[in-house]
Amino acid sequence: MTTVLPTVLPDALGDAAREFIAGTHDLLIGSERVQAADGRTFLTLDPASGREIATVPQGGAEDVARAVAAAREAFDGGPWASLAPSERGRLIGALADALEQRQEELAQIESLDNGKPVKLAQYVDVRGTVAHLRYFAGWPTKIEGSVLPVTAPNMLCYTRREPVGVCGQIVPWNFPLLMAAWKVAPALAAGCTIVLKPAEQTPLSALRLGELALEVGFPPGVLNVLTGDGETGAALVDHPDVDKISFTGSTVVGREIGAKAGRALKRVTLELGGKSPNVILPDADVEAAVAGSYQAIYFNSGQACNAGSRLFVPAERFDEVVGALAERAKATRLGAGLDPATQLGPLVSAEQHERVMSYIDAGRDQGAELLAGGGAALADSGGWFVEPTLFSSTSDDLRIVREEIFGPVLVASPYDTLEEVARRANDTDYGLAAGVWTRDVSSAHRLAAMLRAGSIYINHWGGSDPSAPFGGFKASGVGREHGHDGLDAYLETKTVWTSLG
Ligand code: NAI
Ligand code: MG
Repeated sequence: MTTVLPTVLPDALGDAAREFIAGTHDLLIGSERVQAADGRTFLTLDPASGREIATVPQGGAEDVARAVAAAREAFDGGPWASLAPSERGRLIGALADALEQRQEELAQIESLDNGKPVKLAQYVDVRGTVAHLRYFAGWPTKIEGSVLPVTAPNMLCYTRREPVGVCGQIVPWNFPLLMAAWKVAPALAAGCTIVLKPAEQTPLSALRLGELALEVGFPPGVLNVLTGDGETGAALVDHPDVDKISFTGSTVVGREIGAKAGRALKRVTLELGGKSPNVILPDADVEAAVAGSYQAIYFNSGQACNAGSRLFVPAERFDEVVGALAERAKATRLGAGLDPATQLGPLVSAEQHERVMSYIDAGRDQGAELLAGGGAALADSGGWFVEPTLFSSTSDDLRIVREEIFGPVLVASPYDTLEEVARRANDTDYGLAAGVWTRDVSSAHRLAAMLRAGSIYINHWGGSDPSAPFGGFKASGVGREHGHDGLDAYLETKTVWTSLG
């Protein structure tokens, strides 16, 4: 067994974050804060040092059953079920305010637990979370059915939009709080109740979210939080009283959850992996394309489902573009997330570090040319750092071109024609996102129509808004989050027929 050293909490951590992290961490079930029924716990580690941050309960099947029962009770009766939509909206807004007031604390917790730069955690994760809650806080008062012009005489026929019920929400570690908000906000707006399971690598911010929800006045049982690993997640998926599962994570686990949900006829939304193509056209503003393509892959150390991990460059501009990208990659400053000078943090875990390094080895072995990076970094820190890495390849058959790496590894390829690049960009099992860089409107939109992906980014990468649907074609998922579509995924339609005699 390897020994894990205790953390020396970094000086950069403020008092509020320090107090939360050093406190006792419990499962949040109904109105109770409890340890796991069987007493099991696990450690959450600092990716920048490999040291222990905190001990967290490992929820088991018994805890899942209790949390689902608490969510069921809150859904079926009591204050949540009878709450006016305007009050539901007010509570969601109050949760947004509470998070906004504590944005530095939450950003520091997220930065320490995940490894990401603290500014990124604040501007993207925490503010994004606040924005999602605010957007969905407006929805409860606008969920409407309709009166239908049916043919039968003397008949009143109308629809009601009702909450789906108890939702099991399983989230990953790359944007822990934000991925939770993408699921929690629409579920609350619809009037559902929730059992939220954060990833075992990053359990802390979800626990803080759950505490704050109780503090601002959500009735007990509306948002239960169970920390634990895949076993906890599987128990939640398998529980017969869960009406809907929403999951963000690996395609392997997503397939399994989709199959289980199919058999049990549970509602399901899945946001899975990607291998997104980023296409620079010959007339593009090269400087903007290089800066944007750098962000597209290295943002969050490449740990983004919509990372632009395959770059297509016109053959005649290939050396110029990859040369500029390699220079930028080599100049990147790696470090701990809480160090304000850090541009690129560590990967989240030893497991992810090993996985990404093995892909880099596979790239070399299969003959890709290494143009930047390629190594682990800051080894003395004990952290899981990987240099921003750039390969070039003329083959589309390499593992690094076909499989999701989920690290700071980009593969650039030259191409000759628009039709060729559209075909090669679509030659993937995935379909989450795609990018196009050009000054020509007509080729931009021709390509946008040809690319099989849920989001197309023209002359930038990664546009995101609570109102704009996000999700995948093909193996990148099922359903959409954000906006009307995101809300619809938490609603059932009921049709009511009344004979007027
Ligand atoms: P994972 O899919 O195993 O974990 C994601 C979440 O699912 C975690 O909360 C985990 O505890 C839970 N989980 C795991 N197995 C489960 C099961 N059988 N039933 C229910 N819940 C389960 O992903 P992992 O192992 O952390 O990362 C592996 C790869 O997945 C990454 O290298 C990356 O390629 C991909 N990934 C994609 C993400 C995305 O945003 N689409 C996020 C995280 C990982
Ligand atoms: Mg896994």
